Amino acid sequence: MENSLLSKITLISVIYTFFIVCVVFGQSRDVRELKNWKFHLGEIQNADQYDFQDKAWENVIVPHDWAIKGPFDKEIDKQVVRIDQNNEKEATEKTGRTGALPFIGVGWYRTKIPIENIKSGKQVILTFDGAMSNAEVFINGKKIGNRPYGYSYFYFDITDNLFSDRENVVAVRLENKAFSSRWYPGAGIYRKVKLILKDKVSFKHWGHFITTPYISDEVAKVNIKSQVQGENVVLKTIIRDSNGNLVNQNLTSQRFGDEIEQSISIKNPEIWDIDSPILYTATLELHQDGVLKDSEVIKFGIRDIDFSAERGFELNGKVVKFKGVCLHHDLGPLGIAINKSALRRQLTILKDLGVNAIRSSHNMPSLEQLELCDEIGFLFLAESFDEWKKPKVKNGYNLYFDEWAEKDIVDLVHATRNHPSIVMWSAGNEVPDQWGSDGVKRAKWLQDIFHREDPTRPVTVGMDQVKAVMENGFGAILDVPGLNYRVHLYEEAYKLFPQGMILGSETASTVSSRGIYKFPVEMGFNKTHDDLQSSSYDVEYCSWSNLPDDDFALQDDKPWVIGEFVWTGFDYLGEPTPYDNFWPSRSSYFGILDLAGLPKDRYYLYRSRWNTKEETLHILPHWNWKGREGEKTPVFVYTNYDSAELFINGKSQGIQKKNNSSNQHRYRLMWMDVVYEPGEVKVVAFDEKGSAVAQKSIKTAGAPHHILLEADRTTITADGEDLSFVTATIVDKEGIPVPNATNRLNFEVSGEGNFKAVCNGDATSLEMFHLPSMKAFSGKLVVIVESTKQAGNIQLKVSGKGLRQGQINLSSK
Ligand code: GAL
Repeated sequence: MENSLLSKITLISVIYTFFIVCVVFGQSRDVRELKNWKFHLGEIQNADQYDFQDKAWENVIVPHDWAIKGPFDKEIDKQVVRIDQNNEKEATEKTGRTGALPFIGVGWYRTKIPIENIKSGKQVILTFDGAMSNAEVFINGKKIGNRPYGYSYFYFDITDNLFSDRENVVAVRLENKAFSSRWYPGAGIYRKVKLILKDKVSFKHWGHFITTPYISDEVAKVNIKSQVQGENVVLKTIIRDSNGNLVNQNLTSQRFGDEIEQSISIKNPEIWDIDSPILYTATLELHQDGVLKDSEVIKFGIRDIDFSAERGFELNGKVVKFKGVCLHHDLGPLGIAINKSALRRQLTILKDLGVNAIRSSHNMPSLEQLELCDEIGFLFLAESFDEWKKPKVKNGYNLYFDEWAEKDIVDLVHATRNHPSIVMWSAGNEVPDQWGSDGVKRAKWLQDIFHREDPTRPVTVGMDQVKAVMENGFGAILDVPGLNYRVHLYEEAYKLFPQGMILGSETASTVSSRGIYKFPVEMGFNKTHDDLQSSSYDVEYCSWSNLPDDDFALQDDKPWVIGEFVWTGFDYLGEPTPYDNFWPSRSSYFGILDLAGLPKDRYYLYRSRWNTKEETLHILPHWNWKGREGEKTPVFVYTNYDSAELFINGKSQGIQKKNNSSNQHRYRLMWMDVVYEPGEVKVVAFDEKGSAVAQKSIKTAGAPHHILLEADRTTITADGEDLSFVTATIVDKEGIPVPNATNRLNFEVSGEGNFKAVCNGDATSLEMFHLPSMKAFSGKLVVIVESTKQAGNIQLKVSGKGLRQGQINLSSK
């Protein structure tokens, strides 16, 4: 025993010494982003060929969305359909369903890989984080592969396709079909493309799986499984804490086939949690004969997750309810081209809202979004599909399911499994396969694939056919049963399903337009109005859905409801319910925030419940109702306080207290009989003892006078990608926001920045996002300024006829 231990130690120290002497001579991998491409819209013969002349093509930067510059057109992807899942009885013409932007058709991209990038003996991998859609990839005129699903990450080993004496040409053909989506899918190579040059003795792509199977206050066990290629290799792993301090290292050559497995201890581990998202890094180095052949740095978190009938979802031993939102992949005015600072802004806003979880509906999230969720502290439900074999739309994923579903899931798991934020997988959303026994088999098959690839996380499916899945066993086989809406069936499903919990995988679908209020204030579903807007009194929803308060009540009354994912955090392009049949509606009304990222009133309803650290005291509606003098104009207050007194021009309207007479009375303070007169609305909130603890007021604004500018960040990075989001508010001469101003505004950026896009959050606007002029909507809009690669000052001027100009100075470093 002792002898063998001794020889082990000696061997390790020999390897170690060897390592220290030789490491300097090694080379690691080289990762380059392919950003500059030539682009051509439309089919073109021989564009895959090496000698094809693409000089006249447009120069574009990837990530790229070829459709976001529009123009909007009613005829694009006009779908005459009956939407079963919306309980529709007959087919109707749906105009803005996929955003009315020109995403359909063929697009070609070409780029060159300079010869100096290709070194003999290297393995070369070409990776795509996502291409929309039906990608076919050619190297030097030869097709090397394809990928139909626009949301999948994929890669090719192109080592044997490369010339070593000439530059190499990559050509990509994409094709988006009509009737292939239920929302704006976007178009183009919209996520990053990278070239990885590594030694043939190296880690396989997506080759590491890091888990933390044992955690105590004293020690955590970090398990790392690494897939390697090459003989006689030694793996050195260095673990560092979030400050870069070395916490442990390990050396091993023990191998099981292609896999090397390590268990490394970390003393007094710092735990990854939503409020303290502490990340460690593992630097993995592969050596052969004392030479460094490959290395990768992977961030990971030490955290424990558990789902049980007794306690629901637990993070690090504490019960946590999902306060989640669903997000589509588009970034509003920026389209689908991925941009990390736009994602960071979204998550920063959601953090203030008190959100703790994101569901990537209904497909694979961007890798950037996952990195940010790890860093900022969000739980993540990573979804895969909106369709399996049975179609929702004619040319949807049903065309690819048989051939690609397994590979798409395997790649999802392999590419993302080291992110501590991911706590659950979703195999699908409201798939029509919920009906029938074949669908049950498919659910089991897909769940088994997830389990095989990742035994550490459970699987859910967002189910809307609750009666069907209760009967046919579909719901019973899932790790976590997710219900989309159907609050009236929660209790029954909970009793029937064996899991002992229900997740609100999709909730609310309440609709509203920022700053627009409808009278009389009445609750109801599928309500439409002549201006194609929905009321911000937050009383309108869909026939299949409900108001936020109904979900709150369930979560408060039933401990087995493990939380919710609201449809949706931000508005998105396409699916303009309840105006699917009305042009020019072209984007959603579901968001807690609008398409520009500005909060609707609902923001404060959720915040009053979810943000438990800060005060929320919000009054609605605005108080500019010329013509409503003497008419009943209800006032709502969204607050974390239990009761408050309302004053109109100093006259008390009485005290309201949250109560159980209805779900709305439970979560909102409502004064239904207030009579409108211009002036001041003031609310004074009371704590539990009845002492006045906070107050807020809003005032009737005068005529539009000048423009106020506020940036989310005034200093940005000079990398040509970073963005500052500047909110322009039209105010009167006292500085009071004019809530119904619709003045046309014009934008001018000078210095080391560019005007990138603008958005006013109006779901019916047909003005293009990339043009430097737009009308304000409900008194506001958001201008997006992009840095150049040169550090310096940036100035944004916003002007409008009859208004004093607004000006803001930004800087980029
Ligand atoms: C759900 C669906 C979502 C969206 C939503 C609108 O049924 O999963 O993708 O369509 O309805 O309410």
